[in-house]
Amino acid sequence: MTKYIFSQLILNWYHKNGRKNLPWQKNKTLYTVWISEIMLQQTTVNFVIPYFKKFILNFPNIKSLYNSKLDDILYLWSGLGYYNRAHNIYKSAHIINKKYKGIFPNQFLDVIQLPGIGRSTAGAILSLSLNFNYPILDGNVKRILIRYYGIIGFLKDKKVEKKLWNIIESITPIHNTGKFNQGMMDIGSSICTSIKPKCKICPLNQECIAQIEKKWEKYPLKNIKKIYPEKISWFIVIKYKNNFWLRKNTEEDIWKNLFYFPKFNNKEIALNWLKEKKIHINTCENMISFFHKFSHFVLHIHPILITLPYISKFFKENNTNIWYNLKKPKNIGIPRPVEKILEHFKKDIL
Ligand code: ADE
Ligand code: SF4
Repeated sequence: MTKYIFSQLILNWYHKNGRKNLPWQKNKTLYTVWISEIMLQQTTVNFVIPYFKKFILNFPNIKSLYNSKLDDILYLWSGLGYYNRAHNIYKSAHIINKKYKGIFPNQFLDVIQLPGIGRSTAGAILSLSLNFNYPILDGNVKRILIRYYGIIGFLKDKKVEKKLWNIIESITPIHNTGKFNQGMMDIGSSICTSIKPKCKICPLNQECIAQIEKKWEKYPLKNIKKIYPEKISWFIVIKYKNNFWLRKNTEEDIWKNLFYFPKFNNKEIALNWLKEKKIHINTCENMISFFHKFSHFVLHIHPILITLPYISKFFKENNTNIWYNLKKPKNIGIPRPVEKILEHFKKDIL
């Protein structure tokens, strides 16, 4: 099949079936497309929609981002996960302000140098917003190409990746690049899905090798089932009326700058911490344990609820320790597992 036909199949499909009314497809600017593409990395369209809307409402342009605090950005990112993306947006706003007078750059080499933006995301931003001729190669597009061309290999293999870039460069049309790219992503997320692809309604089904062989599971080759390491964390949930004692994470990890309950690796250390601080407590009880899946591990969380009769000297607010009032919540970044615990108390707010 020739290059013209592949792209034509995708474009025809896009005109009839592609998504054209997503919030980031209306009043498109480099800025809004950038934010949406960062949010859409590792996160599905439907999950992103409310976060995107809220984000753009609060930060309609780069200037508003630049003038805000990191905590305000993390606050709007709370629950979306992969918080490094929010840190990168914050850093980018400062770079754009300094290097490009506050205007999002439209040159590929400038865009790709911003933190959190690789070749595919740079291509997506420029092609979707300005219809510039750059290919994209995200997970969805990779899966389509591997199946269509019957490529035997692992997704993470650098040689496979190089091959896929060469293919996508050669089949991406010069005109309508943005529509083609959007069409590929839409087909990848709604038709050529990892499990149970809907080949019957796929525009590529005539010559797709995976479909002809009826061997989707071979494309791409799967790594032997990953066993995720499991970690355990004990949270001390300190409650005084509607207030919860939270501290800012200053470590360089996935929850950098987010607020959470004092956390410990085991129960003894957790209880010793309480003893050492000579905190007068009212009640102490184990809450229901639960787990939270991250991309590379599973975290088992054991919360211990401590209620206080009064606020002792130890609990002084400063830059990194705060009383979080459920009735008047501050704008701070909170990771999903902490949010889950707080939600539990929302129903019986006093
Ligand atoms: N994944 C990444 N970018 C996307 C987009 N613009 N539409 C749908 N899925 C995407
Ligand atoms: Fe994917 Fe099936 Fe379409 Fe091939 S025919 S690209 S396997 S959905």
